[in-house]
Amino acid sequence: MDFKRHIASRIKAEGLSENDIYAMIELPPNTEMGDFALPCFRLAKAMRKAPALIAQQIAADYRTDEIVGEVSAVNGYVNFKIDRALWAKQTLEAVLSAREKYGSGEDGKGKTVCIDYSSVNIAKPFHIGHLSTTVLGSALYKLHKFLGYTPVGINHLGDYGTQFGKLISAYKRWGSREEIEKGGLRALNALYVRFHEEAEKDPSLDDEARAFFKKIEDKDEESVALFEWFKELTLKDVGRIYELLDVHFDSWAGESFYNDKMEPVVAELREKGLLKESDGAQIVDLEEYGMPPCIILRSDGASLYATRDIAAAIYRKNTYDFYKCLYVVAYQQNLHFKQFFKVLELMGKEWAKDLVHVAYGMVSLEDGSMSTRKGRVVYLEDVINRCIEKARGIIAEKNPSLENKDEIAKTVGVGAVIFGALYNNKIKDITFSYDKVLNFEGETSCYVQYTCARANSVLEKGGAARSCTAAAVCPQEFEIVKQLAEFPAMLRDALDKYEPLAQKFNKFYFDCSILNADEETRAFRLSLTEATLIVLKNALGLLGIGVPEKM
Ligand code: ARG
Repeated sequence: MDFKRHIASRIKAEGLSENDIYAMIELPPNTEMGDFALPCFRLAKAMRKAPALIAQQIAADYRTDEIVGEVSAVNGYVNFKIDRALWAKQTLEAVLSAREKYGSGEDGKGKTVCIDYSSVNIAKPFHIGHLSTTVLGSALYKLHKFLGYTPVGINHLGDYGTQFGKLISAYKRWGSREEIEKGGLRALNALYVRFHEEAEKDPSLDDEARAFFKKIEDKDEESVALFEWFKELTLKDVGRIYELLDVHFDSWAGESFYNDKMEPVVAELREKGLLKESDGAQIVDLEEYGMPPCIILRSDGASLYATRDIAAAIYRKNTYDFYKCLYVVAYQQNLHFKQFFKVLELMGKEWAKDLVHVAYGMVSLEDGSMSTRKGRVVYLEDVINRCIEKARGIIAEKNPSLENKDEIAKTVGVGAVIFGALYNNKIKDITFSYDKVLNFEGETSCYVQYTCARANSVLEKGGAARSCTAAAVCPQEFEIVKQLAEFPAMLRDALDKYEPLAQKFNKFYFDCSILNADEETRAFRLSLTEATLIVLKNALGLLGIGVPEKM
């Protein structure tokens, strides 16, 4: 039984449906006045009455029962006091029976959602700037799956462009196979950096690079083989990171995949009268919409990033018939997405409205900016390894006798990196700080992981007795029940914070004796502990963060 629903069904307010009321009912942080509350401020307009009056009227009309025992009106709020033990019982039963499925659902049944994330560039370093798209995209993937959608994870590889001509030229001049086999992406990047240095002195190198790129396009055997090799090296390098972060993809169709799929797009644009010539280039004029033109073909006939994205969107619609197609890409590309979404709309694709740019802010380290060309790069792998190293140090200090230290340091370190990227507001630039993400007392993944370990140890010592029934529910217990009950709604509200639950559990742990309580209370508190552990694990799991048994 859904208590909120029960309350909503018994309230009549002019011009508002039961669902409207349901959505407005809150769980106030301060439970002195009531356990549930209905703020009446938004009702005021529809009902043309002061909120305080509306609240009084609703409270007076409400029929109490065994679920809601007391109703009062205070300052525009209607407050409801419920039978806490009954609510706790139902909530705990729900968590303990659904377990790792608690919070999941069929909301998205039959709906496919394409998620374009990580989308690395071949032969370019996988640096800290790719962290957010990778972990945010992966979390969105897991969350959609949990809620019953069919997600399609797409790594839209940056595997097309003149930089590959530069790399071939650099490799042929200064590279060696052994060196690259050994050094992987970093060695490739060193070649790329050298090319730019040398090309500054000798501009003819740029012509050579262009010629090599043309060779790739013309399917010259040697050049294509080199390019494929670069691609293989890159995927091997980034594969290690994806494995560490538990990130997966269903499709690796990158930019070059659309080489033969753009001609029909260009033809369609032309047919629909959308193409215009400008300085030899073919563009779609977007002035009317307050944007610079979207360039479709350069004056030499070459396609562009946007052309490929238009072809890719059409391909995805045809292939997956998506309900939504998400692009998890930094806000620096806002204009690009707005432009090509608009072009698709102008082409008459009614589904253009289902394309969503999920923007986020850039992550940087405390010590300043990066430049691929100049070789100033912060490799993501280094950041992850450093976090694991630091976690190892903290564990060695706090709990030197712990078994599996390496495994646990990995889980904690990787969790810290993921959490560090996800914790902040999605569209704000953030500075990554090792100390902050590995603070065991802060709002961090290791704090939550540590809470889980604490819950595990309580359960281990507590034995098998469980009970969802309590004679009375103390405030600390009630706070946990609230969080557990809200978890499904919170997930649907997107990736929100879950660390309040960990905080509340720790307060409960310190304030209320679990193991030394009388038998009945102890069994109830163990159930509460177990339910907390389940929900914390579910929450972390959706973000790609693991939970060690012990810490
Ligand atoms: N490879 C691009 C970059 O690193 C991101 C691609 C994003 N996806 C897309 N469909 N445009 O900037």
